Amino acid sequence: MNGITSILGIHYPIIQGGMGNISNAILTAAVSEAGGLGTIGAGTMTADEVEKIIIETKKLTEKPFSLNVALSVSPNPMAILKLAVKHRLAVVTLSAGNPAPFIGKLHDEGIVVITVVASVKQAEKAEKAGADILVAEGFEAAGINSALETTTLALIPQILNRVNIPLVAAGGIGDGKGLAAMLCLGASGVQMGTRFIATKEAPFHDSYKQKLLDANDHGTVIVGRSVGKIRRLLDTSYAHCLLQREAEGITPEVFADLTTEEIHKKGALEGKEDEGFMNGGQVSGLITDIPSVAELLDRMMEEARAALSAAGNKIG
Ligand SMILES: Cc1cc2nc3c(=O)[nH]c(=O)nc-3n(C[C@H](O)[C@H](O)[C@H](O)COP(=O)(O)O)c2cc1C
Repeated sequence: MNGITSILGIHYPIIQGGMGNISNAILTAAVSEAGGLGTIGAGTMTADEVEKIIIETKKLTEKPFSLNVALSVSPNPMAILKLAVKHRLAVVTLSAGNPAPFIGKLHDEGIVVITVVASVKQAEKAEKAGADILVAEGFEAAGINSALETTTLALIPQILNRVNIPLVAAGGIGDGKGLAAMLCLGASGVQMGTRFIATKEAPFHDSYKQKLLDANDHGTVIVGRSVGKIRRLLDTSYAHCLLQREAEGITPEVFADLTTEEIHKKGALEGKEDEGFMNGGQVSGLITDIPSVAELLDRMMEEARAALSAAGNKIG
């Protein structure tokens, strides 16, 4: 047991980060059943759509799982959060916005609140607002990223110097050595997105998974810098089309129209590389297989134990 496993009622200190609109009940339940914390990503879905996924997930697992609400992305954060109360979920993860107005109400219902941050300032604010656990996400991560561009290795110790609640590291972690490294930095666990895409249970198109297997250490690109909406994507023809449009000059509104969730689904779920994008983190180059979620988590724990023991031997 450590800080987060006891608070969350899970076995392994590994969280599957919410993947708005595209991760589903099967992946969420598989992660929770395997001993980690699965997360439903509400993204831009309506409350009815999210409720169906919650009900389906509850049929597949009795273990705790989380509901991620990206506050500035969701069309109706309050309606989605009410579902967490209605269905007595154990955990809610708030990202992409100010969590302060919601934390007290969720605590009143006995719900544990995880807040995703990308800077020391955001971490201090979230702790002050009452968050139970922080996820600190570095610039290596897939998907929407902070314009501050601070990497995980630099971010985690700086936040830990300033807050007292448990911290989970996200961005760039894909194996047990990464987990061990983050524990050594003082994190209580890790959250992963990219690594979970390349698992048997993940509901993504085979060509998305294959792209991850094919990726090397520079297999991702950053789009959206010119409009202040940064995203890390796999290096595909659609990503290049976005970069080209930015080079020609593009408004934030047009960029938003080219990066909607409908377009995301075309890439991630339908595997149409020319018509939609695929989120991917820098850790993509480390991924060489497509295990089941349980195989992945068991292997990561074994690797982490071996890495921690080898590191101990190295220091004498
Ligand atoms: C396909 C995809 C969609 C994502 N959507 C969301 C989201 O809706 N909300 C959120 O807070 N994070 C989202 N993320 C970020 C993940 O939850 C996680 O923090 C991140 O992927 C960790 O970095 P990694 O990709 O290096 O593992 C997404 C990531 C991926 C890969």
